Amino acid sequence: MTAKKITVHTGGKLYLAGEYSILTPGQTALIQHIPIYMTAAVERSDEIILSSDMFDYTVGLEPDANYSLIQESIATFQAFYGKQLPPFSLTITGKLERDGLKFGIGSSGSVTVLTLKALAAFVALPLTSDELFKLASYTLLKLGDNGSMGDIACIAYEDLVAYTSFNREKIAEQITQKPLSELMAMDWGYTIERLAPHIQADFLVGWTRQPAISKDMINQVKAAITSDYLVETQVAVLQAKEALLSGDKEQLKSALQIVSDLLVSLSSAIYIDNLKRLKEAEEGLDIIAKSSGSGGGDCGIAISFSQSASTELINRWADAGIELLYQERWEND
Ligand code: PMV
Ligand code: MG
Repeated sequence: MTAKKITVHTGGKLYLAGEYSILTPGQTALIQHIPIYMTAAVERSDEIILSSDMFDYTVGLEPDANYSLIQESIATFQAFYGKQLPPFSLTITGKLERDGLKFGIGSSGSVTVLTLKALAAFVALPLTSDELFKLASYTLLKLGDNGSMGDIACIAYEDLVAYTSFNREKIAEQITQKPLSELMAMDWGYTIERLAPHIQADFLVGWTRQPAISKDMINQVKAAITSDYLVETQVAVLQAKEALLSGDKEQLKSALQIVSDLLVSLSSAIYIDNLKRLKEAEEGLDIIAKSSGSGGGDCGIAISFSQSASTELINRWADAGIELLYQERWEND
């Protein structure tokens, strides 16, 4: 342990494909890492002090609803570490938002991964991405999170990933029966594969400036998920994955169009007006755009195959009130 202040970061994520289907075990989603970061600073202190720029007060370990995620992540790490943690101060900054409106590229999940990373650095215990994923999932399952953990997979691996989900009900039940060490050694039945896209394109993120709450969206939409939706989405997700790796532009466009159409058919709550406009802005351009994540606001994405098309799309987005939040270039090397 060092006396120095240590800082660690976690980024955000956005779904390329596989939203809602990924909630069913065994389905696959493609999730892109977004390098817009939150920071945690941790250092030795006389007592435990937790502070987050989300709130205007600090706490210790006394139960506090706002800090429960951070506190539960600390409890998870403590259980994993197995020894008493020396007291520390933990400061979390970098809310993923602007003008008080969240981007919707992170999630509560990011804070869990961030806290675990910070404590691991504090006691100099290196964690693999997979350990980080399991510990964060364990924490969120304990808290009754209803998500697929796809966000955590992407944020823990800090990469574009193909995530195949596990049976969360089963693991949540085992959490009440087995010690953490045993759970960590078990195969939970998920896979997380890093993907390197071999395709020349601009990856663009459009922000609607309208916050959506994933948890509520899931509760609203999940009853509409049919086995046809799952089968058809899975086929298209795997086609999109293959196309990313092989550089097949037409296949990527058609596969992402299929998953987008399937989302439209799932619930009208997904493509609300500003996400419709975000998608329609692709018209006549060598671009595929779609809603990303739960929909109902937050962000959409576009993959553009020419620089002039990217410029035109960004202009159309601006006219439609969609802000370009992030862009990166993919190469086919
Ligand atoms: O958290 P969001 O808005 O990126 O949505 C995630 C995708 C869902 O499948 C709708 C939810 C989940 O946890 O997988
Ligand atoms: Mg969202």
